[in-house]
Amino acid sequence: MSYENSARIINDDIFDLINECFAQEKSSRNNESRLNFFDTYNNYFVLTEDGSYSINSKEINHKVETLHTSTGAISESFEKFIKPMKFNYDKDIAILDICAGLGYNSSAAIADFIKNSSNSNLQIDMVEISKATYACGLLVPSPIPEHDITKKAIEDELIKQDYATLSLEKAEIPENININVFIEDARQTVQGLEDDTYDAIFLDPFSQNMAPELFSVEFFKQFRRIIKDDGIVATYTSAAPIRAGFIEAGFYIGLGPIFGRKQGGTLASPNPEMLDYSLPKNDEIRIALSDVGIPFRDPGLNNSSETILENRTEERHNARHNTKISSAVKTPIFLGDEMDDEKLKRRVERNLAKMNIPSTTSKEAFFIIECEKNYCEKQDSENNSTNRILDMEKRLKKVKKGNYV
Ligand SMILES: C[S@@+](CC[C@H](N)C(=O)[O-])C[C@H]1O[C@@H](n2cnc3c(N)ncnc32)[C@H](O)[C@@H]1O
Repeated sequence: MSYENSARIINDDIFDLINECFAQEKSSRNNESRLNFFDTYNNYFVLTEDGSYSINSKEINHKVETLHTSTGAISESFEKFIKPMKFNYDKDIAILDICAGLGYNSSAAIADFIKNSSNSNLQIDMVEISKATYACGLLVPSPIPEHDITKKAIEDELIKQDYATLSLEKAEIPENININVFIEDARQTVQGLEDDTYDAIFLDPFSQNMAPELFSVEFFKQFRRIIKDDGIVATYTSAAPIRAGFIEAGFYIGLGPIFGRKQGGTLASPNPEMLDYSLPKNDEIRIALSDVGIPFRDPGLNNSSETILENRTEERHNARHNTKISSAVKTPIFLGDEMDDEKLKRRVERNLAKMNIPSTTSKEAFFIIECEKNYCEKQDSENNSTNRILDMEKRLKKVKKGNYV
């Protein structure tokens, strides 16, 4: 199956209905199918808590995700993608919006730009693999007025690509805002983008098990090439392999905002000073020392989700008890702790012994997590999550080889 056919996009039923709607627009050349779509099929749209609408994904392995959090689709855009960005609107800003979907993240960026800028320009490059998903953005009620600007840019591109026929979006795109709409696999798009271009990259795919190809080290290496030195990548996920992937690709990482989830997302930048908050201590320890910190790999930027997941499982298996402590029972988070639960202690110490660490309170254990003594929620250019993770990784290697002092 080609990647386009297997890509994780919107629910199959609404996908077909949207395609029919635009096919009808083409054959009838009247606007009714588009104008009536939302009222006719509103049971397919998911109302989120802030009044904005989301939509469900395709079912993959019996799992369905919504495109946005139920806490509030458009609020999520502002909270997770705009607030952490520290844009300096005295200068021109360039944003890459990966997995643009209904266009909410771009619309939030436009709203923030219009509110805060005076003389500068905004460039937004939106990337989305599915025409029908972009088209769905034209059918959904705009959650903020600036979504009409995004809709106009999407409609123009869908007309150019002969998917939409009529020009129904009346908003004008302001002169100082330029929006490019890419309709393709984001892995293809990034390879064609110029070095050192973006102030911000919004990374908003489905979850890692649905779309690991959009969280790979090689994909992030492209980000490292195209992002400016003080640019920031924002993503909602707190998953260990993704955070590890950013570090391997040459980024510093920090904690992103918490919104609609238990844990904060992830921010990544080439410049540690752009990232205010450390990851939680146990997240650092698990990423550095256990096999959950093995990232996703996609060397040619062309593997299927299944292959990427399978390869990571194999790499984790090979790393366990070899270069990484087993992640079972979250073993590494107990380093340095006295343990009361005898049964758990036995399991933890069995895993540690395989890495030449005699116990949770051995000198080897304290040696490995030495840098965590300086842990601080606020991070800076020296004392930060990335440096601590790299330091613990190095120390684990020394202990495993038995050549530390
Ligand atoms: C969680 S949704 C994004 C929601 C979106 N940011 C918004 O504002 O509405 C994930 C999106 O990724 C798209 N997608 C899946 N695979 C992709 C790929 N390889 N390249 C680009 N987009 C992809 C899906 O079609 C879906 O719209």
